[in-house]
Amino acid sequence: MTQKWTPGSWRTKPIRQVPHYPDQAELARVEAKLGVCPPLVFAGEARRLMSQLGDVAEGRAFLLQGGDCAESFDEFHADNIRDTFRVLLQMSVAMTFAAACPVIKVGRMAGQFAKPRTTDIETVDGVELPSYRGDIINGLEFSAQSRIPDPKRMLRAYSQSASTLNLLRAFAQGGYANLHKVHQWNLEFVKNNPAAERYTDMANRIDEALRFMRACGVDADTRELSGTDFYTSHEALLLWYEQALTRVDSTSGRWYDTSGHMLWVGDRTRILGEAHIEFLSGIANPIGVKVGPTTNLDELIRILDRLNPKNEPGRITLICRMGADLLEEKLPPVIRRITREGAAVVWSSDPMHGNTIKTSTGFKTRPFERVLAEIRRFFRVHRAEGSYAGGIHFEMTGQNVTECTGGAEAITDDKLADRYRTFCDPRLNAGQSLELAFLIAESLKEERQALARKEAALA
Ligand code: PEP
Ligand code: CO
Repeated sequence: MTQKWTPGSWRTKPIRQVPHYPDQAELARVEAKLGVCPPLVFAGEARRLMSQLGDVAEGRAFLLQGGDCAESFDEFHADNIRDTFRVLLQMSVAMTFAAACPVIKVGRMAGQFAKPRTTDIETVDGVELPSYRGDIINGLEFSAQSRIPDPKRMLRAYSQSASTLNLLRAFAQGGYANLHKVHQWNLEFVKNNPAAERYTDMANRIDEALRFMRACGVDADTRELSGTDFYTSHEALLLWYEQALTRVDSTSGRWYDTSGHMLWVGDRTRILGEAHIEFLSGIANPIGVKVGPTTNLDELIRILDRLNPKNEPGRITLICRMGADLLEEKLPPVIRRITREGAAVVWSSDPMHGNTIKTSTGFKTRPFERVLAEIRRFFRVHRAEGSYAGGIHFEMTGQNVTECTGGAEAITDDKLADRYRTFCDPRLNAGQSLELAFLIAESLKEERQALARKEAALA
């Protein structure tokens, strides 16, 4: 007999990748405080996202999900939020324009604080300390004090998420995202990048189209053009935090995790019978499931049965992160099995987490050409299998960082030290993100043309 789900039923299951809080009384105090804090998102918004993801599952839209690997308390500035938002906006416009395809924008923002780690212990010069697990748990500084998990950090993460979300909502609906401003979103430092030239060219053509519409008497100032939907997401890793923000929605009577619109389960905690799958099975938000090269397909099917027993389109996004080298071997069996089972999913590509390497100088990096190779192969494999490559999930920042090698600015190993600022994994910078967007736009355009031909042949 399976036990009945409650927001806290995960506590009776085995769990991994979470801290051991030494001060349990403090933990309980923080949980109680968070439990009465206002929700960060509304259930209705999560339902709207799920319905839009349902369109993606059916091949009618594309999912763009990106942002920091880990948000941090120190890097919390309005400019950083604006720049990340702006790059995602530019990317989505590039895709919508090239492929005439609606793009659903979801930030890895306003809650992406907790990190799974490869090892529990970090050793520096013979000194061993608990690993850094993200600012919501402990501190990055390599000292015994800073690495002690501190429950109070959850309150700070909540408050930073609330401010971030507030600004994102203002940017999305308050005029900044107005399509008439497409020229003003350009970033100074990507000016000399070929992708930026392409962007300017596209912005001119959008302007032209808007002027044409106006001249024809079409209203070019509608809500659709003057603002946009923007959603938030993060890995549902720190379950004390997630549980405290899980509330019953009075409209539907269902439980929603109100810490973000979409939550995902990582490759390391996606285990049937364990705490993370238990928690996610009871909330009604759209759920992402990371799928790495070692995923057991029988287990994956049982996980999907557990998370999406009614097989609702939009509920599950499979975020595939195989690595460029393994993708052509590992992805087709997953697609075939899911298709055979008739599971409705969004297929999204995470071209970051399977392509991380360490340079001889000790930096964790991701060669940009491998990121692009994984995306190209992802589209190609889906085309061959007759399935729809519906999304991208990636780590980026609007800042001019040097964390991933390659791209138009040809960042080399020895340049990584210039502006290597990540707290966790290496991110694409603004220029690299735009280049990626144009590549996807082209693949998406081909994909949609192929789809239109197929539909015409059937008609
Ligand atoms: C991540 O998305 O930051 C992450 C840790 O991914 P994964 O679970 O796929 O390794
Ligand atoms: Co990461």
